[in-house]
Amino acid sequence: MTKIAVFASGSGSNFQALAEAIQTEGVPAEISILISDQPDAYAITRAEHLGIPVFVFRTKEYSSKAEFEGLIVEKLREAGVDIIFLAGYMRLIGETLLTAFAGKIVNIHPSLLPAFPGKDAIGQAFNAGVKVTGVTVHLVDEGMDTGPIIDQESVRIDEEDTRDTLQKKIQQIEHQLYPKVMKQLVSAAAKREEVKK
Ligand code: GRF
Repeated sequence: MTKIAVFASGSGSNFQALAEAIQTEGVPAEISILISDQPDAYAITRAEHLGIPVFVFRTKEYSSKAEFEGLIVEKLREAGVDIIFLAGYMRLIGETLLTAFAGKIVNIHPSLLPAFPGKDAIGQAFNAGVKVTGVTVHLVDEGMDTGPIIDQESVRIDEEDTRDTLQKKIQQIEHQLYPKVMKQLVSAAAKREEVKK
């Protein structure tokens, strides 16, 4: 059973999509913990409904990123976490987490990277007038949305699209692509475990 942590700062719709895919598709994985830096995040309410333990922290209570990430690493170790999925976690991952979970942190970003990294990727694409944008799932490195790409899906921006309709289209694709990549990573992890036995 692969143990997953999801990090979310906001609504958590991608977190929910991952949790539902595990439940309905019999993926041999569990989301062992939700990590959030925002005590009011709706993702926390979703975790409560899903019966998933939560660790919430407030960065202002720590003197450095290394300090709060050190505590997160402790929580992840206690929960036996194998893979981390960032789902709208609005912070750059620091050295402490990157070292502890090297090659095991995944992010989803609402554009076809390397186009439109950073905040409001959907608004950036819409304002740029591009006709095609999309969704990227990638491994996390020390940069902002820069790690190796695992998978991508494109989304057309039609004449009649507004920023809101584009956002809805992108979210729909995210909720398919992230579970799809999760299933691939979980089955790769299961195969590695088999080899070890
Ligand atoms: C998603 O668009 C994701 O790609 C980005 O942040 C957003 C999170 O949405 N990294 P939600 O909280 O999962 O609804």
